[in-house]
Amino acid sequence: MNSSHNNDFQSPCACQSDNGTYNNIFDHICDEFPICRQKFPIMGGKEEKKLIYFDHGASTHPPRQVIEAHKTFLENFYANIHRGNHNLSLIASDMFDNVEHIIMNFIGGNPDNNTIILTNNTTGSLDLCAYAMSFTEGITLSTVMEHHSNYLPHLRRGKVELAGINEDGSLDMDDLEDKLNRFPVKLVAVTGASNVTGFMPDIHKIARMAHKKGAKILVDGAQLLAHHPVSMKPDDDPEHIDFFAAAGHKAYAPFGSAFLFAPREIMDEIPPYIPGGGTVEFVTPREITWAKSPDRHQGGTPNIPGAIAMAESLKFLASIGMDKIREHEKSIYSYAVKKLSSLYDVDIMGPQDPERCIGVISFNIQGLPNELVSAILNYEGAIATRNGCFCAHPYIQALLKIDEPEECKLKVDRGDLLFMPGAVRASLGVYNRKEEIDDLVTMVEMIRDREWKGVYDLARSTICQPIRFTLRESEPGTAACIREDQNQGAGCSK
Ligand SMILES: Cc1ncc(COP(=O)(O)O)c(C=O)c1O
Repeated sequence: MNSSHNNDFQSPCACQSDNGTYNNIFDHICDEFPICRQKFPIMGGKEEKKLIYFDHGASTHPPRQVIEAHKTFLENFYANIHRGNHNLSLIASDMFDNVEHIIMNFIGGNPDNNTIILTNNTTGSLDLCAYAMSFTEGITLSTVMEHHSNYLPHLRRGKVELAGINEDGSLDMDDLEDKLNRFPVKLVAVTGASNVTGFMPDIHKIARMAHKKGAKILVDGAQLLAHHPVSMKPDDDPEHIDFFAAAGHKAYAPFGSAFLFAPREIMDEIPPYIPGGGTVEFVTPREITWAKSPDRHQGGTPNIPGAIAMAESLKFLASIGMDKIREHEKSIYSYAVKKLSSLYDVDIMGPQDPERCIGVISFNIQGLPNELVSAILNYEGAIATRNGCFCAHPYIQALLKIDEPEECKLKVDRGDLLFMPGAVRASLGVYNRKEEIDDLVTMVEMIRDREWKGVYDLARSTICQPIRFTLRESEPGTAACIREDQNQGAGCSK
């Protein structure tokens, strides 16, 4: 039976040029992403402007190849997996079972001793790891720079200590080592790359330090997976990564599919995470034989098309080459940091070191609320950024040197969400180009000089919007936007 799918990482990327140079691949890679054609009206502009998407840190877009794989499954092979003895189910099961191999291959893990458990998002994967380690004595050592998803699940299940940061926003390795020495640490939970500053802690060095103390290491790979080559390293290597969590929606796959790489010896010993359909070998009214991993922890019908699409996105990335992707994004990041940091009254957070950071830049313009800056970038430049605290409140507080975060908390508890500390974040992806950075820098200069066009309502919510200017869908499903009114007002928020 030909199910028209394959696991081959070698399939050439359609965007590869004849001479195969990666510069050319990236020159044309936008053609692979239908979303790159998207345009929006901008204030004061006669024509719609092409979207500049700098929100890859939140979610990335699927390329054609991934959309096709998703669609092909829905159209031709849609069936539930395992235990179905008919052609559709057999093919769907085969495709689904291959996902584990593709992920394992992509992250350089050893399938003999490790498993890939599919979840819905990175948060789910991190929580599964916290659950798995809750059967072991000891505390979790995390860091101040984590996304809440690599802090709160551990906190829910036991004691957590946090390693601090250095003056430049990088991880304080001395503090981490000190806490490893002082506390009975069972798990070091650390990000592979920060979603605020892009900083990449040396995860293999941390693995070595953790293992020396008998602890395991969990890497939150949400921001790393699609932007930097990763390797779990051999199981007997002191630098081996024990747990690795990541999601497809940050790696050019659709929402709803993610995974946890984990040791079989742990995952096959603990009770199922969500007991139910698919997690057992046999059940009597009195006894249960649980399945081995990954089925043991994947209760209920999984997101089958999502998992297949996630595997396809990894094939897409591998066909380009993660080294090339890293080089490409590094060069755009360096360019962006150089240009933005040369602007007066613009403050970039974190170490800004291209060797130690992926393409994530969080910045503030002095004297302006981050929600206003992000709104102007959108409504006047069609530039998509994100603003706020990026679900990393302790890190933002440390970077902004907020000594009394409790005051902010009191303000929030009173329901006052305006003018919260935070930043504007531009996060890069595989199809971004230097010209787009030029556009961003021009817009940031214009905003810094208080020369924006619109009048913005800052008092409505944390999402700042212009008054009398809306973007909305003209017809369901078309995603075309229209300008209802064009505001050339003086700008009350300046
Ligand atoms: C570093 C990091 N970890 C975890 C998460 C949570 O990811 P998800 O939305 O897939 O649960 C994010 C999301 O932005 C992130 O950036």
